[in-house]
Amino acid sequence: MKIKPARRISGRCHLPGDKSISHRAALIAALANGSSHISNFSPSQDCAATLSCLRGLGVSLERQGNRISVDGKGLRGLRPSSLPLDCGNSATTMRLLAGMLAAQDFPTILTGDDSLKTRPMKRIIGPLERMGAQIVSLDGHPPLQITGNRILEPISYVLPLPSAQVKSCVLLAGLYAIGRTEIVEPSGLTRDHTERMLQWFGASIEIGSDNDETGARTCAVVGPASFSARDVRVPGDFSAAAFFIAAAALLANSEIEIEGVGLNPTRTQFLDTLRALGAEIDIGSKRDESNEPVGSIRVSGNLRENIEKELSLRISGPLSAALIDELPLLAVIGSQLPAGLMIRDARELRFKETDRIAATAKNLKAMGAAVEEFEDGLRVVGAARLKGATLESFADHRIAMAFSVAALLAEGESEIIGSECVSVSFPNFFEVLESLVER
Ligand code: S3P
Repeated sequence: MKIKPARRISGRCHLPGDKSISHRAALIAALANGSSHISNFSPSQDCAATLSCLRGLGVSLERQGNRISVDGKGLRGLRPSSLPLDCGNSATTMRLLAGMLAAQDFPTILTGDDSLKTRPMKRIIGPLERMGAQIVSLDGHPPLQITGNRILEPISYVLPLPSAQVKSCVLLAGLYAIGRTEIVEPSGLTRDHTERMLQWFGASIEIGSDNDETGARTCAVVGPASFSARDVRVPGDFSAAAFFIAAAALLANSEIEIEGVGLNPTRTQFLDTLRALGAEIDIGSKRDESNEPVGSIRVSGNLRENIEKELSLRISGPLSAALIDELPLLAVIGSQLPAGLMIRDARELRFKETDRIAATAKNLKAMGAAVEEFEDGLRVVGAARLKGATLESFADHRIAMAFSVAALLAEGESEIIGSECVSVSFPNFFEVLESLVER
């Protein structure tokens, strides 16, 4: 994809359904008793992989555009798949599905593409084996051969790293355990869509509040669970919105409104971070849909006017976890701040669809920015005049989209190699972007 610089962006848009919520809606609907209808389901390849794995397990699904009907099988209705289940590029599919498969009385093999085969899985193998499953892997990497145990042991599990996928995996396994499976998040809450979706379907879930002293959060499910079908409307994807919010904030005189976006507080730290820098962001039409907060986001393009001259941004500790999917984009933003940006405590970025620290550093350097790489983050020197360049997606959707925003800010045309990977989360990203850009 070739991208020319933009003068401003303006207009209104709707974004595709949230990827994280769509996975959970389909998986939990498959375990419910009866038929659920899901609207605004994510058009991403990742969520299509979840649907295809569910079909492989005997779940009937009908899809018409972004509407899905799921014929729920109940907790005990999944059937063995004669073939390995292909999770494609999607670690969420693999890690969440593994939780459900840990309790089946048949074995399943989960595999994926070359990127997914490099992603760490010991983080789910540990707790699932404690609950009674057996999992064979390639030294902690996919393919995973899961031999389930019909009766799982409930556990109390303290998350060793802030991961919503690990939490969700254990919660889904906990639906099958006899008793209370508890998960403690010592460094605060990661995205809580699984808890909210289970609550929406009427499963027995306890959602704890913050421990005032330590900030730790606890949630628990009581199994064996049984719940009934329910319709779900998926909100627009906040992580997709972040790219448009950043472009609008940085391009002077921009004015955009994104309607129907998910505003779950475990996802929206990016708004607070931009506001603290001086971005003008307004939220309107706030409401709840299917147990998730939703609203519209308006952004005006005067971040560069409002920002204080010496302001630099440091993201570390729990903030890095809260912003995990937005960090490559924040690195692009950092190159435009007067005093730059420092990201630390973000080693997890090296284990995403690609090594996002190395990918971000390489592309920013190609555009002429000065970047220092650390094992757990990077420092971007500010006030950079980005130049159009040939950029690599590294087959990672978020890298392709973050550097599309960088390309709009640059002098001269850029080309993104392998840009088609945006389909992993947002197939019509470039069409929506072009519809808003003014040159
Ligand atoms: C996700 C959780 C996060 C996030 C990923 C989606 C989810 O991963 O980076 O894009 O849907 O649960 P981790 O659980 O590995 O932090």
